[in-house]
Amino acid sequence: MNIVILAAGMGKRMQSALPKVLHRLAGKPLLCHVIDTARTLAPAGMCIVYGHGGDAVPALLKDQALAFARQAPQLGTGHAVAQAEPYLHDGMPTMVLYGDVPLTRGASLERLAAAAGADRLAILTVEMPDPTGYGRIVRQAGRIVRIVEQKDASAAELAITEVNTGIMVAPTAHLKRWLAALSNDNAQGEYYLTDIVAQAVADGVEVVSAQPDAIWETLGVNSKVQLAQLERIHQRELADRLLELGVTLADPARIDIRGSLTCGRDVTIDVGCVFEGDVVLADNVTVGANCVIRNAKVAAGAAIKPFCHIEDAVIGAAAQIGPYARLRPGTELASDVHIGNFVEVKNSTIGVGSKANHLAYVGDTTMGARVNIGAGTITCNYDGVNKFRTVIEDDVFIGSDSQLVAPVTVGAGATLAAGTTLTRDAPAGKLTVSRTRQITLDNWQRPVRQPSSKN
Ligand code: UD1
Ligand code: CA
Repeated sequence: MNIVILAAGMGKRMQSALPKVLHRLAGKPLLCHVIDTARTLAPAGMCIVYGHGGDAVPALLKDQALAFARQAPQLGTGHAVAQAEPYLHDGMPTMVLYGDVPLTRGASLERLAAAAGADRLAILTVEMPDPTGYGRIVRQAGRIVRIVEQKDASAAELAITEVNTGIMVAPTAHLKRWLAALSNDNAQGEYYLTDIVAQAVADGVEVVSAQPDAIWETLGVNSKVQLAQLERIHQRELADRLLELGVTLADPARIDIRGSLTCGRDVTIDVGCVFEGDVVLADNVTVGANCVIRNAKVAAGAAIKPFCHIEDAVIGAAAQIGPYARLRPGTELASDVHIGNFVEVKNSTIGVGSKANHLAYVGDTTMGARVNIGAGTITCNYDGVNKFRTVIEDDVFIGSDSQLVAPVTVGAGATLAAGTTLTRDAPAGKLTVSRTRQITLDNWQRPVRQPSSKN
């Protein structure tokens, strides 16, 4: 099969400089939803018809195996498909999709392709309670004879509730001839793709229809209002799928998945969480309210408490994170690690059972097992130009408010006294202190206010 995706329209009602098909649903451009679904049909080739927004569309997709046809000016859906002709092989049918209809399911498209077979024209249609604006499917004795656009329809035709979704499959050699014969003699002065239906009937080519499982699969985005509506529909679908798999969601209306979220058994997710990229939550993981988790793997039994921000991180089994923790890219936590409130970890590995429970920055650090990081500890990894690593070996105890000026190593079992500024390695098993000795001045007195000469 050949696939053509129409994406040249400007989307004026989006009120945006960005081409409509590049606006995001679930974190992904509308057009990419369509491309990803189309790929599940394993087409021989895919061509994107673009136009508005200049080269922004091909530029975004340049690393994918796609053909691009520029349509300028935009003279209608039939004219748009005609631009893709050089990429359409005659020996197989052509499916037409819209770049601004993001939620069509692969199963519905497969049903349509099966209805078309090799030599029929197949149209994806739906019954719309309010069909206003859509092309109407005109049938005679049950057979489709043509499609009439809203602006060209008679009163009787306007009463038809079966509408054209725009998605169709046509035998390619016929399609090319039909497109060449289109005229723009209609209410909008456009070359309508829908006019190929009457030509197919005249040529004795059978015209059939197929229906999607849900109407929302065929809804397009023309405004931010519609985009927001489809986002909610999509998120609710994703949430329902999680519920069916046994995930506990405190409220399926208050979770956002922008990518893929894979959950083990008995996972619980509280309200207001956002999952981006690829996130894997293993068995018995709990995620507290209002967490943002992106590209992360969380092992079994770990507890993410409320208000955590986690990105490109691996979290070990039974770890406890947050509340208010920030795990930045390159964080790898072994099992039973505790990262508490207002602790930031970046590009660091932390060994089994180590804890940083309050107010700390751990960056570019290799930390062993059973380490305790006191409140206010900072690894000074950056001299303004270069970054350096800190090594903290097993069983180290770092007193509160210490600074570890990297590159520096704290040997196994070492203790740093509170307030230490470590600039050289701390030997294993010993107490290292770097601070002036505490003294008390016995005869000191507080200054008293002098009588002023002014006022
Ligand atoms: C079209 C159909 C209508 C159907 C409706 C479903 C035609 C003539 N009408 O109407 O029967 O009910 O879709 O939403 O086909 N596009 C281009 N280049 C163009 C014109 C459009 O790429 O020159 C693209 C648009 O970006 C969009 C799609 O084609 O993705 C449909 O265009 P739109 O203007 O929304 O078509 P409608 O008039 O709504
Ligand atoms: Ca439309």
